[in-house]
Parts: sequence; structure tokens; C-alpha cells
Amino acid sequence: MSFRGLFLSVLSALLAQSTCAQNSSSSGYNFVDPFIGTKNGGHVFAGATLPFGMAKAVADVTNENQGGFSFDSSTVSGFSHMHDSGTGGGASLGNFPLFPQPNCPGDQIDNCKFPKALRGTTFVNGSQEARPGYFAISLNNSIKAEMTVSNHTALYRFTFSGDNLSPLILADLTDLSNSRGNGSVAVDNDSGRIIGNGTFNPSFGIGTYDLHFCADFSGAKIRDTGVFVNNRAGTEPKSVNVVPDGVNTGTDILPVGAWTQFNAPDSKGEIIARVGVSFISTDQACSNAEKEIPDFDFDGTLAAAEKVWKEKLDVISINAGGVSDDIQTVFWSAIYRGMISPQDYTGENPLWESDEPYYDSYYCIWDSFRSIHQLITLLDPESQTRMVRSLIDIYRHEGKLPDCRMSLCKGFTQGGSNADIVLADSYLKNITEGVDWATGYKAVISDAEDEPPNWSVEGRGGLTSWKNLHYIPTDDYDPFGAGPFTRSISRTVEYAYDDFCIAEIAKGLGHTADYEKYTQRSKNWRNMFKKDQTSLLSGKDTGFTGFLQPKFLNGTWGFQDPAFCSPLLNFTSCFLNPEGHETYEGSCWLYTFFAPGDMGELVTTLGGPSTFTKRLQYFHDSGLLYIGDEQGFLMVFLYHYAGRPGLSSKQAHFYIPSQFNTSITGIPGNDDSGAMGSFASLTMMGIFPNPGQDVYFITPPFFKEVSIRNGQTGKTATIKNINFDAAYENIYIQSAKLNGKPYTKNWLSHDFFLSGGTLELTLGKNESSWGTKVQDLPPSLSSYGGSYGGDKRWMVDYAMQ
Ligand SMILES: *[C@@H]1O[C@H](CO)[C@@H](O)[C@H](O)[C@H]1NC(C)=O
Ligand SMILES: *[C@@H]1O[C@H](CO)[C@@H](O)[C@H](O)[C@H]1NC(C)=O
Ligand SMILES: *[C@@H]1O[C@H](CO)[C@@H](O)[C@H](O)[C@H]1NC(C)=O
Ligand SMILES: *[C@@H]1O[C@H](CO)[C@@H](O)[C@H](O)[C@H]1NC(C)=O
Ligand SMILES: *[C@@H]1O[C@H](CO)[C@@H](O)[C@H](O)[C@H]1NC(C)=O
Ligand SMILES: *[C@@H]1O[C@H](CO)[C@@H](O)[C@H](O)[C@H]1NC(C)=O
Ligand SMILES: *[C@@H]1O[C@H](CO)[C@@H](O)[C@H](O)[C@H]1NC(C)=O
Ligand SMILES: *[C@@H]1O[C@H](CO)[C@@H](O)[C@H](O)[C@H]1NC(C)=O
Ligand SMILES: *[C@@H]1O[C@H](CO)[C@@H](O)[C@H](O)[C@H]1NC(C)=O
Ligand SMILES: *[C@@H]1O[C@H](CO)[C@@H](O)[C@H](O)[C@H]1NC(C)=O
Ligand SMILES: *[C@@H]1O[C@H](CO)[C@@H](O)[C@H](O)[C@H]1NC(C)=O
Ligand SMILES: *[C@@H]1O[C@H](CO)[C@@H](O)[C@H](O)[C@H]1NC(C)=O
Repeated sequence: MSFRGLFLSVLSALLAQSTCAQNSSSSGYNFVDPFIGTKNGGHVFAGATLPFGMAKAVADVTNENQGGFSFDSSTVSGFSHMHDSGTGGGASLGNFPLFPQPNCPGDQIDNCKFPKALRGTTFVNGSQEARPGYFAISLNNSIKAEMTVSNHTALYRFTFSGDNLSPLILADLTDLSNSRGNGSVAVDNDSGRIIGNGTFNPSFGIGTYDLHFCADFSGAKIRDTGVFVNNRAGTEPKSVNVVPDGVNTGTDILPVGAWTQFNAPDSKGEIIARVGVSFISTDQACSNAEKEIPDFDFDGTLAAAEKVWKEKLDVISINAGGVSDDIQTVFWSAIYRGMISPQDYTGENPLWESDEPYYDSYYCIWDSFRSIHQLITLLDPESQTRMVRSLIDIYRHEGKLPDCRMSLCKGFTQGGSNADIVLADSYLKNITEGVDWATGYKAVISDAEDEPPNWSVEGRGGLTSWKNLHYIPTDDYDPFGAGPFTRSISRTVEYAYDDFCIAEIAKGLGHTADYEKYTQRSKNWRNMFKKDQTSLLSGKDTGFTGFLQPKFLNGTWGFQDPAFCSPLLNFTSCFLNPEGHETYEGSCWLYTFFAPGDMGELVTTLGGPSTFTKRLQYFHDSGLLYIGDEQGFLMVFLYHYAGRPGLSSKQAHFYIPSQFNTSITGIPGNDDSGAMGSFASLTMMGIFPNPGQDVYFITPPFFKEVSIRNGQTGKTATIKNINFDAAYENIYIQSAKLNGKPYTKNWLSHDFFLSGGTLELTLGKNESSWGTKVQDLPPSLSSYGGSYGGDKRWMVDYAMQ
């Protein structure tokens, strides 16, 4: 149990004694545990940040440090000021770490330890503490380190104890992945201020970025200053520049930095270090810090950070209805993780001049289109609006929307051009203020029409085949651009859905011909469906026929075992590399279920609702589905399209809390900038979205009552469970009322949240007929086109099961 967990169990013991333990109306803030997902590959950032803030301070450990800190290592090598959260790629950022030492043994500068590899110090087990805006840890060299942040500045309080104190704090020109090219550092002998810069690589993309910092200290008199190179330090010179030497690379990169040594601090033993960061210049790094935290006031800065987080979280309130503190912790922590990235770098973008907001760390949209941006739209539409404006501005200046972006660089595209989905989702959900939708529309059309020279980092490949053959051939002939010629199946279904989303925007903007055209193209997933394909597992027929399969240019079929790249067969063979296969990070089993805009046709294609439901259930039960990768999220709710909304609810409870819990290993995969968090929290609120559509699937919230206040209209929408029980026996909706009137649709649209109101769900122990009729199902392409709307086969099929 983490320290935080311990704290919560004490808190819950206290609460249990009070009479209102049943009704948590206290701020969700107290339930957030930032340590969830900090072991076994969650890569969650556990440190101090503001919502979507650029400064993210934490202790960096020596391995599995994608999020800076993790419990996979017990050695801390520095405290750095910027991070990404939950990444599946390499470690991002972590530039210019500080490292404090109580003194240099024998009072000899050279007896302090300078390189990362030598100075690493174990932390005191159990000393770690984290809550939104705050992180603390004690090192096994008697130093306690606490940190908090403002938007562009990290603030550290180092407390020293023991004898012969003459603390030395160094700042190192490195980053977590040792990617520094050129670098430069200087220390001011009077003030102890250290400034510097460096050129670094992004962790899952191309190019380089320059970053600058400015560190100031308060709390003790300056004794001396200097620089270090390798494990040698001196008081002269006061600055040093490095260029790559071609020999010392990777983990052997030359350690270079500066240091400031102090006389013993006053009786409290504290030295405050304030580090401003900027992508523009060291001057701006210094002025950011001076403006945001003029007086080195740690407690005041922390209080401001806590206040911002409480306000962010307070748009939701729950009546827990007797649900355990653990479940509430899962929920609030998940919401919190959904508000760490993308990061607001407005005013910090050296690449172009613009009055638009600039956000970065879209890491990656392939992950975040599925529920992160929907969570942000719901809870913080103002931030989502700024993000959409920044995406459109990236298109304006880079020529394409990103599919992944970090540290001012283009990141790798994993499948489709999925920013199209984010834009459509926002377009449909009243994300309008200051958004230039005409340019937004050009951006998505560019994805759909113009193949870029390098489609490994933006746009789509194979567009000529897409337009002429209506699928991505496995052996595509594409002389128009370069990119990895793999993933023909998953790219086909993602491009199809991207086109569906473009059609929605076209419709809204009145581009009727485009609407028709992209609607037509959105049906292209059907062209990869091989209707006689069977699937064997361990030599036995699974009994389901018809799967997506590879298709060649000449129209003949290839073969990829439908289970290949599922957890049951060569799970890790479909990553982004030249040896990749025809699906990405998943199997044909999985991608055969991916037609989010055309579910009516898909259900029909797979044999009608009853067979569809059996197949979907088999997919979940057999172990073919991995919920730790984002494509799994929607799979929990597809039962809604087969008239079985109760099974979506059952499946949600199957995964939460068994796979999403309060332990430090409590998320099933990389959090990917909050993706796992957004899945858990939206699922627990009972309103998981079909991303890119104005559709939320209704399932009973995991609490007696959930209310969400909309930031655009100030209205509150409440979902109430009647017959709620905290043991989750009554998880099936029997009937529903929206604002007092019977409501039979198994889905909601966003105007419920804009207008406010009450949705009352009456629960029972068994599935009911609520939300099962064809007219109650979420909309789907074919229901407008007519192939299943009102189709009698459906009713018969459902009645027969
Ligand atoms: C919890 O709140 C409900 C109404 O919201 C109220 O009826 C009930 O008495 C409260 N329970 C406790 C233990 O305070
Ligand atoms: C602190 O370091 C010492 C020496 O390396 C080691 O023996 C001790 O176990 C460490 N203590 C903790 C709490 O890690
Ligand atoms: C840290 O403490 C926890 C709980 O007391 C224990 O389970 C764990 O093994 C300890 N870790 C180390 C590295 O000593
Ligand atoms: C921090 O940035 C957010 C936007 O991301 C902004 O709303 C807020 O006002 C900023 N805080 C300060 C103190 O400037
Ligand atoms: C590094 O500095 C050298 C000059 O010292 C310059 O020629 C080179 O372009 C710089 N490289 C980068 C990546 O900034
Ligand atoms: C870094 O700082 C050095 C020294 O001030 C300066 O010469 C260099 O141009 C800076 N590099 C960047 C990328 O700003
Ligand atoms: C740097 O500052 C220290 C402390 O004030 C002083 O002892 C030392 O002489 C100064 N060094 C230089 C080069 O000015
Ligand atoms: C194209 O992308 C690849 C990575 O897939 C990168 O190595 C290469 O530098 C890029 N080329 C250009 C011209 O941007
Ligand atoms: C179609 O193309 C595939 C892949 O190149 C090849 O194996 C197959 O023989 C071709 N089929 C026909 C009928 O030409
Ligand atoms: C699948 O995994 C097996 C066992 O690890 C390995 O021998 C085989 O080469 C893999 N196949 C592919 C196509 O990656
Ligand atoms: C918590 O979640 C993790 C990750 O999904 C899982 O491996 C573990 O079994 C879960 N723990 C419990 C007690 O359910
Ligand atoms: C849409 O958002 C704006 C603020 O951006 C708000 O004024 C308006 O009322 C919202 N529209 C609806 C239909 O709620």
C-alpha cells in the first residue's frame, strides 16, 4: 500500500464514524491518488502539475522513468520540471534536473557526486506523498524534497538535516533519455542563479527541440558556484558550452552542468529552488518564474495549485451511495489523470507567431480520440475549445493536423488521421467559441484528400488506392508518399471512420456533396470483410465466421490468423515497425468490431444481434480482448447496438475494479496521457461516448448519483440510480425517466449536459426490455440509409435469444 493509500484508509476509518459516510459530497480532490499506475508500465506522472500545465515536477528514478517517478526503481537521480504522462514510447523531457547533496564529503567539491549515474540515491520507502499539485519524497541522504508548480515554473523545498551542512545543488544539462545535442549552462556567482539550454529529441517523433531553464535559490547564503564536466567540478569558469562529441552518446553522454553551494541554511534547514522553463529563451524562463512565483512562497504556491484543482474537480459531484472509498479513489484519480495533458504551451511556441492557443503533448491522438477529449469536453469545455483551436493552428502552420505530437515535434502516426474524430466530436458538442471551423474543415479534408510526402508522421498513406480501390491493399503501390507499408486492415477501418466523421462536419457546414462522398467512403471497412473466414484457437473452430482479412491490389485475399496479435497469439507482433503486420496493436478479431459509424450494418454483417452479441461476449470472455490498449474501450459498449444495453453494464463491472483499481499497478496498460483514466471515469459515470458522434451510451453510474455542471451554460445534469446498491447487484436498467418523462433510448446526446436536467434510472437484478428496441438504439449509418432501421429480422432475432 502506498503512503497515500494508507492516508485514505485512515480517512475512511474516520469517515465511517460520522453519520454521513454514505454521502460523499466533499471535493473529489481528497480522493485523488496520483500513484495509481506508477508500477508495471502504467508510466503515470505522479508529480506536481496544474491542469494541462507545462511545468510538471517530480523525482526522477533511474529506470521505467517515462513518467519521471515509478516504483520500478528505488533510486532517485534528480528532480526535473517537465514530463509527459503514461507514454508508451520512450521517456520524454525530464530536462535539466536539480540534485541536492547535504555537503561534499571532506568539504571537497570533487567529493560531491555529479553524473547522474553516480549521484543516484535510494529514497526512503514510504516517504513518498502525492496529491494534485504536490509531490514529496525523502532521500536516503537525509534530504526531504517537496515540490509544487505554477504554469511554467517548478518550485522545490529541500529540507536538509544533519551536521556539517553546506548544501550543494547542481543542475544538469541532460534529459530522461540522454538525448542532448548542444547545451550550454552558466551560473551567476552573486545570486547563485543557474541558466542554461539544450537541444533534445522527442520521445516518439522526429526532429529536435530547444529548451531553456532558469534556476534561482532562496533560504541560505551562497558559498560558491561553478560548473562540472564528468565527475570533476571547479569554481572557474562560470559557464560551459558542449556540442556532441560523437563518442559519448546515449547513457554515456557527457555529464555537464553547474552548481551552487550554500552555507548552512537557517534553523528550518530549508532551501527553496525555483525553476522556470521556456521553449523561447533563458530570459523568458527567468521572467516566467519571476512573474509566477515572485517571492519563493512554497505554501502559497501550493495553496494556489490546490485551489485550481479543486475548482476543476468540483464541476462533478457524486452521492456515493455507500460505495467504498477505494471505488471513489479509482474514480477521482481517473478524472485527475484525464486533466494532465495535452499541455498548454501558449506563449512558448518558437515555431510560429500566432494569437491562437498552443497546446502540445497530444500523445497520441490515436489514444486520446477515444475518450480523453470527450472527458475534457464534458468537464472543461473551455480547455477543449483551446485545444481544438490549437489543433487547427497546427494545421495552419504545419500543413497537417497531428496524430501525435510532443515537445514541439511531429510524432508517429499509428493508424488513421484521428484528429478528424476529435474535431468532429467537438463540432457536434458545441465547441465553438473562437473556433475557425472553416479552416478546421479544410484541415480534415486535407487529411482525406492530400497524401503528404511523409505519412509516417501526419495525414494518411495509400490515398490513391483509398480513392480508387476503396481499401488499403496489403501490397499497396504508393509512389506518392513514404511511410510504413503495414497495417492495411487497421488503416482501412480507421480511414473509413475518419471519413465518417468528416461527413458529419460536412453535413453540419452544409457541404452536401462532401457529406455524400465521405459517407460513401466511410463504408469502405466492408471491403476488407471476408465473409467465409473462420477462426481457430488452439486448433478448435471458435464457431464464428466472417472476419476482416488482408486484401491485395488485384482483389484477391491474403491471410492473417484472426487471433494473431491478440493476447492469445503473438500478442506483441503488431507494433509500429517495418516487420509489422496488417493490424496495429490488435487482432482481426478486434478490428472486425471497429465500424463505430456503421454499427447497424456491422451487426447485420456479423449475423444479426443475437450472433453479434455471442461473438462480442466470446471476444471478452476468451481473453482475445486486451482492455489495456485503447481500442478495447468501445468494445465494452457495443452491446448497445445489439439491443442488449444491460450487457454493456455487466461488462463495465467486469473490468472495473478488477483491472482499474487503487493499487500502484492499478491500470492495465500505459495510461497514454490519461486514456485509461478517461475510460474508467466515463464508464463509472455511466456515459461512455461513441467518439466522434453525439452519442453517450447509457449505463448505470457506479454511484447512487452523479452531477456534472456544464462550463458553457452553467447548467447541471444529474444521473440518479433508483434501487442503487453498493454491492452492484442491481446493475440493469429497468426503466428510465428524463426530466420526469419516460425515456427508452439507450443513449443520450450532449445537449443533456448543455441544458441540464435529470435522468432517473430504475435498476434491477436482471436485464429488462428497456432500451432494446430498434428505435431505442444509437444512430448508425445504415439506419439512416435504411438497411436495418425497422428491419423485422432484428426483432425476431432478438426475441428468439
Ligand atoms: C444521503 O443523501 C440522501 C439524499 O441525497 C439522503 O436521503 C440520505 O439521508 C443521506 N444519507 C446520509 C447517511 O446522510
Ligand atoms: C540507505 O542507504 C544505505 C547505504 O547504501 C543502505 O544500507 C540503507 O538500506 C538505505 N536505506 C534506505 C531506507 O533505503
Ligand atoms: C516498501 O514498503 C512496502 C510496504 O511496507 C513493501 O511492501 C515493499 O516491499 C517495500 N519496498 C522496498 C523496496 O523495500
Ligand atoms: C495557467 O494556465 C491556464 C490555462 O492553461 C490559465 O487559465 C491560468 O489563468 C494560468 N494561471 C495563471 C496564474 O496564469
Ligand atoms: C550545435 O552547435 C553548432 C555550433 O557549435 C552548430 O553548428 C550546430 O548547428 C548546433 N546544432 C544544433 C542541433 O543546434
Ligand atoms: C544557448 O545558450 C548559449 C549561451 O547563451 C547561446 O549561445 C545559444 O545560442 C543558446 N542556444 C539556443 C538554442 O538558444
Ligand atoms: C563567488 O562568490 C563567493 C561567495 O560570495 C566568493 O567567495 C568568491 O570569491 C566569488 N568568486 C568570484 C570569482 O567572484
Ligand atoms: C519522415 O519520417 C521519418 C520517420 O518515420 C523520419 O525519419 C524522416 O526524417 C522524415 N523525413 C522528413 C523529410 O521529415
Ligand atoms: C494477386 O496478388 C497476390 C499478391 O501479389 C498474389 O499472390 C496472387 O497470386 C495474385 N492473384 C491473382 C489471381 O493474380
Ligand atoms: C509467433 O510467435 C511464435 C512463438 O513466439 C514465433 O515462433 C513466430 O515466429 C511468431 N510469428 C510471427 C509471424 O511473428
Ligand atoms: C488491479 O489492476 C491491475 C491492473 O489491471 C490488475 O493486474 C490487478 O489484478 C488488480 N488488482 C486487484 C486486486 O483487482
Ligand atoms: C454553446 O456554448 C456557448 C459558449 O461557448 C454558450 O453560450 C451556448 O449557450 C452553448 N449552446 C448551447 C446550445 O448550449
